Amino acid sequence: MPLVTSTEMFKKAYEGGYAIGAFNVNNMEIVQGITEAARDLDAPLILQVSKGARAYANHTYLIKLVEAAVIECPNVPIVLHLDHGPDFETCKSCIDGGFTSVMIDASGKPFDENIEITRKVVEYAHDHGVVVEAELGTLAGIEDEVNVSAEESSYTRPEEVEEFVSRTGCDSLAIAIGTSHGAFKFKPGTKPQLRFDVLEEVSRRLPGFPIVLHGSSSVPQEFVEKINKFGGNMPGAIGVPEDQLRHAAELSVCKINIDSDLRLAMTACIREHFAQNPGDFDPRQYLKPARQAIKDMVSHKLIHVLGCDHKI
Ligand code: G3H
Ligand code: 13P
Ligand code: ZN
Repeated sequence: MPLVTSTEMFKKAYEGGYAIGAFNVNNMEIVQGITEAARDLDAPLILQVSKGARAYANHTYLIKLVEAAVIECPNVPIVLHLDHGPDFETCKSCIDGGFTSVMIDASGKPFDENIEITRKVVEYAHDHGVVVEAELGTLAGIEDEVNVSAEESSYTRPEEVEEFVSRTGCDSLAIAIGTSHGAFKFKPGTKPQLRFDVLEEVSRRLPGFPIVLHGSSSVPQEFVEKINKFGGNMPGAIGVPEDQLRHAAELSVCKINIDSDLRLAMTACIREHFAQNPGDFDPRQYLKPARQAIKDMVSHKLIHVLGCDHKI
């Protein structure tokens, strides 16, 4: 089937108490690992591309890799989504270039400015059959070249969401409830806890409306330990507990963003490979197990965290 929008996916996910995995793609092995997992488990999928990914791999290469996955996985509904679109021009370029979904992230701007920019993207996107994710509230962490400190981050204010959604016409809303980008989400020694009270109040005010969680990697400790064992240096890397993500997926969260866990799976595997096979220099020797590590990690997420296996 051709690329789809997330409209139907989110409706079914909302009603079924599960979430769609939105995985960031940057190269062929990542695309293959993710889509092979979804194909084997009959899970719908969102493949997302950041501004940094477009700068790294080039828009055309990424589009063609995703088109190849669509051909190889004909039964999997796949959305091609722009992650953290920084401005109207980037969103327009992706809409014109074949994406079926875009995020406009004006969450760092004042409320009215965020509404104005989001509204403009929504008008253009909807005229072209493309759906739009917007964001209210600010996550801590690093996305592209923007580094938001924990002090500058702010939870979404539930009292703003109805006005924001009705004035912008956006199709889904990313909110800040304590997740953050990257592999260091919580201070070591503290208990990670998402603000479900904020999520529940947002959902009460927006019944049936799909909510998105960014910064939702769990930072599996097996990967961190392997990275540190084989020459890496990531002390204190901590993610969002899987059971809290599963709970969010049972509520109104229909899209869960995962990038760091892909990076960790791949890096841990490649570090281990080189430590154990110091003579290898053919990229296929270490990218093949790295691709498998991504597939295994994504399979685990689809079943145990997102609950979206066998939902096609
Ligand atoms: O939100 C951030 C994503 O992990 C994308 O990261 O901008 O380094 O591609 P990136
Ligand atoms: P992680 O860094 O937790 O994987 O978050 C990714 C993300 O939110 C992409 O938009
Ligand atoms: Zn994000």
